[in-house]
Amino acid sequence: MSEMTLDQPAANRSLFFRRWLRNPLQMGSIIPSSPALCRKIAAAVERGPEEYVLELGAGTGVISAALLAAGVPAHKLIVVEIVPEMADFLRGSLPGVTVICGDAFDLANTLPAEVHGRIGTAICGIPLVLLPLERQAAFRDTVESVAPGRGFLLYTYCATSPLPYRRLGMTARRMAFTLANLPPASVWRYRPAPPQPIAALHPT
Ligand SMILES: C[S@@+](CC[C@H](N)C(=O)[O-])C[C@H]1O[C@@H](n2cnc3c(N)ncnc32)[C@H](O)[C@@H]1O
Repeated sequence: MSEMTLDQPAANRSLFFRRWLRNPLQMGSIIPSSPALCRKIAAAVERGPEEYVLELGAGTGVISAALLAAGVPAHKLIVVEIVPEMADFLRGSLPGVTVICGDAFDLANTLPAEVHGRIGTAICGIPLVLLPLERQAAFRDTVESVAPGRGFLLYTYCATSPLPYRRLGMTARRMAFTLANLPPASVWRYRPAPPQPIAALHPT
C-alpha cells in the first residue's frame, strides 16, 4: 500500500467517503489527508507549553493523530467537527482529546471560554477555497475572536494561495508541500496583516 493511504484504517476511509457522497462541498475531499500531509501540518504547529492546538473540520482524525504523535498532549488538543457521526467517531478514537461537535464559524460560542486567547495554532480543514469571500472573511474573524493575532494553517490542493489574502487583510506563507497526497497538497499559514502606516495608505 502506498504512503497516500498507509496507516489509515478502512473505517476512516469508508466513513469519509460516505460523508462525501452526502455532502461533497462540506467534505471537500473524497479521502482523508495522507500521513505525509498530516506530518507536514503537525510540523508547522506553534504552541507554547500551556497553549492549545485547535483543529477545525477534523473529519476522521488523521491530522489529530499526527498532532498527538508529534507531541501535542491530548489534553491540549481540541477538535471541532460539524457532522455528529464523525464527532462520535473522533470521540471513540482520540482518548483524552476534547472533541466538540459544532460549527467552526462560531468559535466564540463553540469553544469553552477558558481556551479563548490560549490557542497556539488553529488548523483549518474546512474547504475554504470553495466558499465566497464573505464566508472566508467570517472564518478569519471567528478565528481572530478566540486566537487573536495567530491566524491559522490551511492545507489545500491549489498550486497558489487558496485565499485572496490581501483582500482578507492577511499575510500568507507556504510552509510545506507534498506530492504524497491525493491530490498533492500544500500547507499555508495565514496571519492578520500588521496595520499599514498612514503614509502607506495615503501616499503623497
Ligand atoms: C476536507 S475534510 C478534512 C478532514 C480531515 N481533517 C482530513 O484532513 O482528512 C473537511 C471536514 O470539515 C468538516 N466541516 C465542514 N464544515 C465545517 C464547519 N462549519 N464546522 C466544523 N467542521 C466542518 C467536514 O465535515 C469534514 O469532516
